[in-house]
Amino acid sequence: MEISSRIPGFYNMTIEERKKYLIDLYNLSEEDAEQLLHHPSLPEETADKMIENVIGTFSLPLAVGLNFTVDEKDYIIPMAVEEPSIVASASYIAKIVREAGGFKTEATERIMIGQIQVVGCPDFKKAKEAILSEKDTLIQAANDAYPSLVARGGGAEDLEVRIINEHSSQYSQMLIAHLYVNTCDAMGANIINTMVESLAPVVEHLTNGKVYLRILSNYADRCLAKATCTIPPKLLASDGFTGEEVRDGVIQAYEFAASDPYRAVTHNKGIMNGIDPVIIATGNDWRAVEAGAHAYAARHGKYSSMTTWSKDEEGNLIGELELPMSLGIVGGASRVHPMAKLAYKILRVDSAKELSRVIVAVGLAQNLGALKSLVTDGIQKGHMALHSRSVAMAAGASGELVDIIADKLVEEKEIRVGYAKKLMEEYVK
Ligand code: MEV
Repeated sequence: MEISSRIPGFYNMTIEERKKYLIDLYNLSEEDAEQLLHHPSLPEETADKMIENVIGTFSLPLAVGLNFTVDEKDYIIPMAVEEPSIVASASYIAKIVREAGGFKTEATERIMIGQIQVVGCPDFKKAKEAILSEKDTLIQAANDAYPSLVARGGGAEDLEVRIINEHSSQYSQMLIAHLYVNTCDAMGANIINTMVESLAPVVEHLTNGKVYLRILSNYADRCLAKATCTIPPKLLASDGFTGEEVRDGVIQAYEFAASDPYRAVTHNKGIMNGIDPVIIATGNDWRAVEAGAHAYAARHGKYSSMTTWSKDEEGNLIGELELPMSLGIVGGASRVHPMAKLAYKILRVDSAKELSRVIVAVGLAQNLGALKSLVTDGIQKGHMALHSRSVAMAAGASGELVDIIADKLVEEKEIRVGYAKKLMEEYVK
C-alpha cells in the first residue's frame, strides 16, 4: 500500500476530519476506526493491569508528524506530547528534507547488554580467566534461559569481562561481566534480566566471589541508529534570511552545543522533543532511551551535542544524528496500550530496527527545526503564538473563544493568564 506522508491542509481539518482522513488512507478496520473515533484512550481496566495503585489514566495530545520520507519510504509519525510547536516544527523540516531527497538512515544489529557485578573475589585476575574459559557454556546457559528468543533468531552472542578499580579499596574492586544479546524486535529488558539472573550462581561458583547486580545496561551502544540529511541552502531560506545565512547559523549553533555542555543540554533536549513523543506513542520506555541518548552524548568524555551539522563542498547543509535506541515493537506496553497498537498501524514499521531509524530521523528534524528558528526569528515568535492558546485555556476559554483570546494576547504581546482572564471578562460583557 502506497502511503504519502504529505497531506496538504491537514492542519486546517477538524480532529474528526483528520481521523477520518487517516481511517480512509490506511483503510483501517472497523474496530480500529471505532477506537480512533470514539475511544482514543487507555481503558482503566487495562491500566490497572499495567501498573500498581491505578486511580485513573493521564492523557496527552496525540498528533501526527507529516512529510517524512526516510530511505525512500513515507512515514506518518504518531507523536504524543504536550508542548506546542513540536509537531509543526518536525513536519515543517521534514517537508524541506523531503524536497532534498529525504532522510537516509542505518542501524546496527540490535545487541543489548546485560551486566553482572561480582565483588569479593579472592583473585580478580583468576576470576576473570575462569569466566572467560567457560564463555561458551555461559552463553549457552543464557540462551537456555530464554529459548524463545533463540527460536526467533536472536540470543546471547558474546561475553566480556572487565575488572574495575583493580588497585582501589576492597569495596570498589569488582569484576563486571557483560553479556551481549541480540534481542531482535524486543527492547529486551526482561530477556536480559532473566538471562543474567540465571547466570549468577555459575558466575559465583567460577569466581569465588559474590554477585550483586544482574541487570540490563541502558547504555545500548551496540544498538545504534543513525540518520543523515543533505539540504541545499536554497531550501533553507526564510523571511529575510538567505539559505546560506540559515545554514551557517545552524552550523555555528551546533558548534556552540559541541563545545559547551550548558548549551548541549538544551540542544539535546530539543532533539528529544522529537524522539520522546514517538517513543511514548509506540508504548516504549522513554526513560531508557533518554538515559542511553544522554550517556552516548558524553561518550568522548565530555557531554556534547547529539547531532553534528556541517557543510559539504557544494555548500549543502549536512546533518547527522546517531543514538542508542533501546526500544522494541513486541512486548511491553507497545502491544497492550490500544493507542500504541494503533500508532504502529499508522507508522507501518516491520521491525525494531526500522522504528529506530525513523525515530532518529525525527530527532534530526526536530533539532534542525529548533536551530533554524533560533538562528532566524528566535524561538518565541512561533512558540508564543501556540503558547497563547494554552494561556487562553488556562484562563477558562473554550471553543471558539480560545482562538479569539489567543489572537488578542499575541496582538497585544501580553501572553499572561491574568491578562487573558481580563480579556475574557470584557468579551463576556
Ligand atoms: C524547547 O523545548 C527546545 C529548544 O530549547 C531546543 C534548542 O534550544 O535547541 C528550542
